[in-house]
Amino acid sequence: MSIEVYLDKGIKEVITEFPEIEKILDEYKIGCGTCGEGLCLLKDVVEIHNVDEDVETELMARISNVIYPDKKIEFPKRKRKIQGQKEIKYSPPMKKMVDEHVLILRWLALIPAVIENLDLESKDGLKVINGGIDFIRNYADKYHHAKEEDETFKYFNENLDIIKVIKNDHVKVRNHVKAMLQAIKEKDKKTLAEHLKAYSEILPEHIKKEDEILYPWMDRNLSTKQIGQLNSKFNEIDTEYGEAPERHRTFIETLESKFC
Ligand SMILES: [Fe+2]
Ligand SMILES: [Fe+2]
Repeated sequence: MSIEVYLDKGIKEVITEFPEIEKILDEYKIGCGTCGEGLCLLKDVVEIHNVDEDVETELMARISNVIYPDKKIEFPKRKRKIQGQKEIKYSPPMKKMVDEHVLILRWLALIPAVIENLDLESKDGLKVINGGIDFIRNYADKYHHAKEEDETFKYFNENLDIIKVIKNDHVKVRNHVKAMLQAIKEKDKKTLAEHLKAYSEILPEHIKKEDEILYPWMDRNLSTKQIGQLNSKFNEIDTEYGEAPERHRTFIETLESKFC
């Protein structure tokens, strides 16, 4: 089969045919085998992960070696907009979302203590869990995920795998939240703890995907005008939410002093 045919194949399909490629990608910290979708085309994998030029040459040579062990076939190199950029430089709207992740990660770090101290009977216990649910629904979901889904994603084709992976994670998270609310209603501590744990396990990887892959990829593909539009929209959203994000920050700080 020609090289073009492989470049246009989904990475999962390529891995199924050549399992060794999954191990190679893992060595370069490109976890296609464990990715929720894994439907990115082989030719897009290096672009989405923004692999350095020299690393790309080496990686593609190794992949080529697996597919064509008897021939020396070179994959065509992708065109680069920015040469040799190592450190991620975010545009102002992306930077804002990266900063919001920091507070979400602080909440995630508190979840084991929240689970250990779960109390659905006392006023204080309910204050902690209701505050946590309020943070998840209003800060992490409405305030933050809405910026991603309602504003940023509209500049991109929603059928792109990279967008689908992120949206699927949001759906999974929302389903856990629904189950948490039901468990609180039924005073079912065990189920609540299970869903809090599952939620806290999805988000660190999700945030890493956004910080290291999605946002830099979006920045590379948005025009200066679009970034400007996003920035004004985000400022509007911040004005609309007023003091709410600060209230959420105070909640996290209070929990940190309680549990840490
Ligand atoms: Fe997200
Ligand atoms: Fe996010």
